[in-house]
Amino acid sequence: YCYDEPHCDPYSWGDSFPSCHPLLERCHSPINLDHQLVRNDSLGPLHLEGFDAVQPGHWTLENDGHSVLLQVGSGMAVSGGGLPDVYHTIQLHFHWGGLATNGSEHTVDGRRYPMEMHIVNMKSVHPNESAALDDPTGFAVLGFFVDVVYADNVHFGHISQKLSSVAYRGQMTKVKPFPLLSLLPKHNMSQYYRYSGSLTTPPCSQAVVWTLYEVPIYISWSQLAQFTSQIFSTEEDAEQVTPLQNNFRHVHPTFSCTVSASRDAGLLRAAAVSKGPLPLFWCFLLNLIPG
Ligand SMILES: *[C@@H]1O[C@H](CO)[C@@H](O)[C@H](O)[C@H]1NC(C)=O
Ligand SMILES: *[C@@H]1O[C@H](CO)[C@@H](O)[C@H](O)[C@H]1NC(C)=O
Ligand SMILES: *[C@@H]1O[C@H](CO)[C@@H](O)[C@H](O)[C@H]1NC(C)=O
Ligand SMILES: *[C@@H]1O[C@H](CO)[C@@H](O)[C@H](O)[C@H]1NC(C)=O
Ligand SMILES: [Zn+2]
Repeated sequence: YCYDEPHCDPYSWGDSFPSCHPLLERCHSPINLDHQLVRNDSLGPLHLEGFDAVQPGHWTLENDGHSVLLQVGSGMAVSGGGLPDVYHTIQLHFHWGGLATNGSEHTVDGRRYPMEMHIVNMKSVHPNESAALDDPTGFAVLGFFVDVVYADNVHFGHISQKLSSVAYRGQMTKVKPFPLLSLLPKHNMSQYYRYSGSLTTPPCSQAVVWTLYEVPIYISWSQLAQFTSQIFSTEEDAEQVTPLQNNFRHVHPTFSCTVSASRDAGLLRAAAVSKGPLPLFWCFLLNLIPG
């Protein structure tokens, strides 16, 4: 498959995976979140079951050549917030950029965040992933933007401290379970955006109910740099090592998508005052005034 070859960019995925060809009547992911949103007052906070507990057993961190994944075993589930069912949490993973580029998949008013974290949950009625891929609401993915500050995020350290053990493709390491809630924003979890879209990696199935949280997770520059410069898409013994960078899919048009804002989401309140043609128009007028 082209997906596993070097220089195979997301625009060529459709050659090997027909469902990765965007069709106008389908809503592909990721998208840009802008002001074309419909407020839905029935979208309250989600219920994150088991996220505040330390799960038994161990978790597994893995470099699959496309991302770093944390497989979290059983014991956690998400529901509520307009989700049609209960979804069991399977894994979380990341999308990032390069040394000087941002790499979130979704963008907000055209702005790309440095990184994006996806918590993947599968509808509990399905016995396996292939059954869930055939269901338009088979998966619920919780997306969190990751932004950078100067201080380390100690909770994020549970993951970033283990990254050196999974630098190369195919490497795995055990991780001691920690409360997943500690990774997430402490407040404002009722502020999110919702739409029905697709997986952002092959086979790009239209099987995802997306929940994109408005408030980002903050990590330090050095924690971000561990992803952008110390993870490789190649195996340890490869002749040429290739850093794993810019592992995000391109943004798709939203013609056929309805994007909802939760009851408490703030994007609609923050009207685009400083963007668009109006300020330019005023500058132009002011320039015409002599003196
Ligand atoms: C609001 O969200 C609920 C739960 O997802 C859904 O059933 C309902 O159709 C939505 N309403 C509108 C107007 O989109
Ligand atoms: C990239 O992220 C940084 C840090 O959040 C931000 O200041 C910058 O505007 C972003 N760049 C783009 C092109 O979105
Ligand atoms: C997945 O589950 C479906 C539905 O029960 C079943 O038909 C199919 O054989 C299973 N596939 C795999 C790969 O286990
Ligand atoms: C978080 O919620 C509080 C109160 O609900 C609000 O005042 C604040 O602006 C929100 N923060 C962000 C970043 O949206
Ligand atoms: Zn993802």
